Amino acid sequence: MEEEILRLKAEALAALAALGEAGELETFRVKYLGRKGQLTGLMRMLGQAAAEERPRLGKLANDVRQELETAFEAKSQELAARAGGAGGPREDLTLPGRLVPFGRLHPVTQVMEEVCGVFAGLGFAVAEGPDVEMDYYNFEALNIPPHHPARDMHDTFYINETLLLRTHTSPMQVRTMEREKPPLRMIAPGKVYRCDSDITHTPMFHQVEGFLVDRKVSFADLKGVLTTFIARMFGEGGAVRFRPSFFPFTEPSAEVDIACVICGGKGCRVCKETGWLEILGAGMIDPEVFKAVGYDPEEVSGFAFGLGIERIAMLKYGITDIRLFYENDLRFLAQF
Ligand code: DAH
Repeated sequence: MEEEILRLKAEALAALAALGEAGELETFRVKYLGRKGQLTGLMRMLGQAAAEERPRLGKLANDVRQELETAFEAKSQELAARAGGAGGPREDLTLPGRLVPFGRLHPVTQVMEEVCGVFAGLGFAVAEGPDVEMDYYNFEALNIPPHHPARDMHDTFYINETLLLRTHTSPMQVRTMEREKPPLRMIAPGKVYRCDSDITHTPMFHQVEGFLVDRKVSFADLKGVLTTFIARMFGEGGAVRFRPSFFPFTEPSAEVDIACVICGGKGCRVCKETGWLEILGAGMIDPEVFKAVGYDPEEVSGFAFGLGIERIAMLKYGITDIRLFYENDLRFLAQF
């Protein structure tokens, strides 16, 4: 009997020492010290011991219970202290903190600001105009009369006979020149709309129109300004090419290409193996446009250009589907 009491004591003390968590304390207490625990069980069996042994064994069992209860109490306090406060919640100070996600500007906004920043640095003022535009400003005053085949390319959303959603930011040339006298240096950023949707077209997108009007403005001025813009936007030293083109509101007209930013001009999927990427349209303002706003084409000359912001953002970041800009998927937007 005595042996069993001492064995139980040794076993209980070892088990207690091995406890690592406050949650295990109760299991220990039930097993060794509870009313149906092992020590209580042994004490009940004392009645079967020889009468002269009973007082000694009884005292031994009581001492062991005392000793285990004291050790149990000490262990409880130790575990509570380790958990950071008596009975308080356990904080794991090594866990990484919760990150607060930061908002950021949409990639289209970022590129828009970058483009406008470059032209502002070249002395261009910024003007904004209406998205709901008159046919007159969007087409007629830009030398695109009714039934002109160029209208087909614009996929216009008409509101009624005379009103439409502007298909480009070029009407801001006319609105500004009507109001002000040269010299003028202006850019007009904004939303434009076309009934078109696929991996390179969305029904709403962004353009920046720019124009400069003064005496004796030449195509060389146009090349100088646009070459500078391209160098600031895409980096110094890349190849640039001015390719003859046609717009009703400029004569002569050009489309401007840069060496493909993906392959450097070798030819790839993005540049359709040509080595070049078209980034804007431009030209010398057509005399017909000057006449529409009451300027004398013999007196003044000027150039104009227009570029698509999404297109530039796609080239800059190697994005192959324009619709990603408008799906509001934070996994996409958070990359910029
Ligand atoms: N408005 C034209 C478009 O949306 C772009 C453009 C081309 C604007 C040539 C211009 C220009 O000012 O000179 O397709």
